[in-house]
Amino acid sequence: MKIGIIGAGNIGGNLTRRLTALGHDVSVANSRGPHTLTALAEETGATPVPVGEAARGADIVVVTIPLKAVPDLPSGVLDGAADGVAVIDTNNYYPQQRDGRIAAIEDEGLTESRWIEGHLGRPVVKAFNGTYAQDILERPRPAGDPDRLALPVAGDDEAAKARVRSLIDELGFDTVDAGGIDESWRQQPDTPVYGLRAGVEGVTKALAEASPERPAGFRG
Ligand SMILES: NC(=O)c1ccc[n+]([C@@H]2O[C@H](COP(=O)([O-])OP(=O)(O)OC[C@H]3O[C@@H](n4cnc5c(N)ncnc54)[C@H](OP(=O)(O)O)[C@@H]3O)[C@@H](O)[C@H]2O)c1
Repeated sequence: MKIGIIGAGNIGGNLTRRLTALGHDVSVANSRGPHTLTALAEETGATPVPVGEAARGADIVVVTIPLKAVPDLPSGVLDGAADGVAVIDTNNYYPQQRDGRIAAIEDEGLTESRWIEGHLGRPVVKAFNGTYAQDILERPRPAGDPDRLALPVAGDDEAAKARVRSLIDELGFDTVDAGGIDESWRQQPDTPVYGLRAGVEGVTKALAEASPERPAGFRG
């Protein structure tokens, strides 16, 4: 598949490593430009591109940048993606440490992914947001392995969600359908599933135990 990755930090870098190793055609972008991504490109064979070109022709685009930077992405950043593109949102709202207070999220009660959709102008599939970046490299397991971890995946577009779940399976993880984007508070920071290393059963239970109330540590 052709995959565009916007953000080349902890998560974007490790997804670039694993997805290229699986044989996908990966384009990767950061804020400073492709000339700053030559080491990652040499290591992985990914193509470094300006952010405005990352989605070009892509079947899957991963947006994995600090949440507060999403409104800074060029308008139409996903234009030029393949028809039916699945857009993966890995992002989390850290108002106290990083992002500052975002009124639309806190006052209007939007899930973080719904807010991101508003800026991207496209539906997203929320995945990897509670996954330690190192686990993407270190914890893949074959299907059926008793130690295989499961990741929650939320999204309204069932076809896009299915494509993302299949890619995560290829990466070496099970998935649990966590519902639509309005329910994606179940996997936001400080919920039981956030950072949980468990299989399908444990992840399913943790999603069910989540509270819709935003935790105090994640209010601005
Ligand atoms: N770290 C984790 O284990 C983890 C786990 C799950 C989810 N997350 C979430 O996933 C997202 C990414 O986390 P991370 O730890 O990978 O972040 P990170 O290491 O800080 O990397 C952020 C990346 O985003 C790029 N970026 C920033 N602003 C941009 C813009 N306007 N246009 C294009 N690229 C831009 C940065 O490029 P430059 O370096 O050129 O500025 C950098 O490559 C965050 O929302 C985070 O909360 C992180």
